[in-house]
Amino acid sequence: MANVKKIRIGVLCSGGGTNLQAILGAQEAGLIPHGEVTLVISDHIGAYALERAKRYGIATKIFDVKQYPDRAERERLILEALEADGVKLVVFAGFMSVLSERFVSAYKNAIINVHPALIPAFCGMGMYGLHVHEAALARGVKVTGATVHYVTEECDGGPIILQKAVEVEDDDTPETLQKRVMREAEWVILPRAVEMVAERIAQEG
Ligand code: GAR
Repeated sequence: MANVKKIRIGVLCSGGGTNLQAILGAQEAGLIPHGEVTLVISDHIGAYALERAKRYGIATKIFDVKQYPDRAERERLILEALEADGVKLVVFAGFMSVLSERFVSAYKNAIINVHPALIPAFCGMGMYGLHVHEAALARGVKVTGATVHYVTEECDGGPIILQKAVEVEDDDTPETLQKRVMREAEWVILPRAVEMVAERIAQEG
């Protein structure tokens, strides 16, 4: 794979960054031959994802929601940073801001998101992080999972790329379910989807 063209990937995170870690681990293992994470952006100053990026020597930028309360302004700065870095694929890995149509159209078919449920279940506005698992347990589903999909202007509504199911156990709490969904589904399908989409973009390139 010596001559494979690698596209530049920007990862947007708001929190712990375990999904970012899964991508970086896959990259290190040679499983993402068509791309390379070159920039990590967070909208939260204390996001641990930033530490993970630094450990890999990856450039980071912060546009904190408190420092930049105006969503349009924050979004403009994020877009500018991605374009200045030459990013061709944007990955939302636990990124909690909803972005406008302007942002989405600047990276048409080139933004992907990981969601901790089997879309169209437990998705849409207000369904993020632990809330998703609380809702799944409240509904009593026996199977949940994760989805990687393209980001469009409709929240969690873009075309699905990959999904993986995870069984719910009788004694699950939102926290134990969240961990299992991450371990068995998110960290598995997100790096795979990153490579699938990077390969397509590199070939179009
Ligand atoms: C993950 O479970 C991710 O699927 C979810 O937030 C968590 C972030 O964890 N994202 C959403 O709910 C987006 N709608 P991480 O920061 O450790 O990757």
